Amino acid sequence: MSDSPKPPRNAGLGYFRDRSVVVTGASSGIGYDVALAFGEQGANVTLLARRRVQLEELAQKVNKAGGRALAIDCDVTDRPRVFWSIDQAREAFGKVDILINSAGLLIAETVEETRPEDLERMMAVNVFGALNAMQAVLPFMRKQKSGNIVNISSLAGRRGVSPLGGYSATKFALVGITEALRVELFNTGVRVSLVMPGVIDTPMARGALKHESIKGMPAMMAMPARWVTWAVLAAAAFGLTEVDVPPGAAVAEKLASLFPGVTDALISMGSRFLQTATQMMGGGEKKDDSPKR
Ligand SMILES: NC(=O)c1ccc[n+]([C@@H]2O[C@H](COP(=O)([O-])OP(=O)(O)OC[C@H]3O[C@@H](n4cnc5c(N)ncnc54)[C@H](OP(=O)(O)O)[C@@H]3O)[C@@H](O)[C@H]2O)c1
Repeated sequence: MSDSPKPPRNAGLGYFRDRSVVVTGASSGIGYDVALAFGEQGANVTLLARRRVQLEELAQKVNKAGGRALAIDCDVTDRPRVFWSIDQAREAFGKVDILINSAGLLIAETVEETRPEDLERMMAVNVFGALNAMQAVLPFMRKQKSGNIVNISSLAGRRGVSPLGGYSATKFALVGITEALRVELFNTGVRVSLVMPGVIDTPMARGALKHESIKGMPAMMAMPARWVTWAVLAAAAFGLTEVDVPPGAAVAEKLASLFPGVTDALISMGSRFLQTATQMMGGGEKKDDSPKR
């Protein structure tokens, strides 16, 4: 854990001035950008993730940008550590107003070849990690009759796609938990939001795009992390129920779910076309056919 340096000169400006925000998965990608954006808006930001060096670097940037940062190395699957970290945030900043669950793990694989232990690892971070953080903040958010929780799920949490079947399962689970919690918290002053991004240009997406079956997918289809950040900030500011990135994408998914067979066929043909195109351009790699235990 690092102590917060003295507030910089421009502290006090910004929409989230003096709000206490906890961001999980702050060492990379979306969580990193979200934490920085809250800092730029004058918030007190507690940064959680396992990689301490990245958190320390970000903490400096947040402090320079006008916020105040507290960096804590925390594995979200370690429940006592998560509860302790939230206590540290409350001690440093007096309260927690906003929790952003961005920590996530994606192991791309076809359903047939998914190793059960990989699905368990993804569940541990994407579902239990978010649950740990939510349960750590909820008692006092309920007591203070205010608070915002923003869970970053995925468009893959509304429609299963290959080779993200296991990952999709975890994101569907997160959607289910979030929707149920929203009902439980109705009229309590505590708001829970879902942010549902498509493909975002982060280390996670770049890793997934290395999987043989989607290697040909053009990188230009990936959107910048800042688009998700705007969605998260809007969700937290207005207590929005659900925000898609790009806007309206989940509506298309809901329409597609009315015709699941047609949707399956279109997605399947599209990905086969991509694979063929990639192979023709010489981008394909020889598949390792060895069994996965
Ligand atoms: N990129 C996309 O296309 C996309 C699309 C839809 C949804 N999402 C979701 O957006 C969120 C952020 O993803 P990203 O794209 O920004 O991925 P990323 O760049 O890989 O970042 C993932 C973050 O999660 C943290 N994390 C992983 N395991 C953790 C653990 N056990 N404990 C604490 N932190 C952990 C990582 O930090 P450490 O390794 O330092 O712990 C890292 O900060 C995820 O929930 C992801 O599922 C991403």
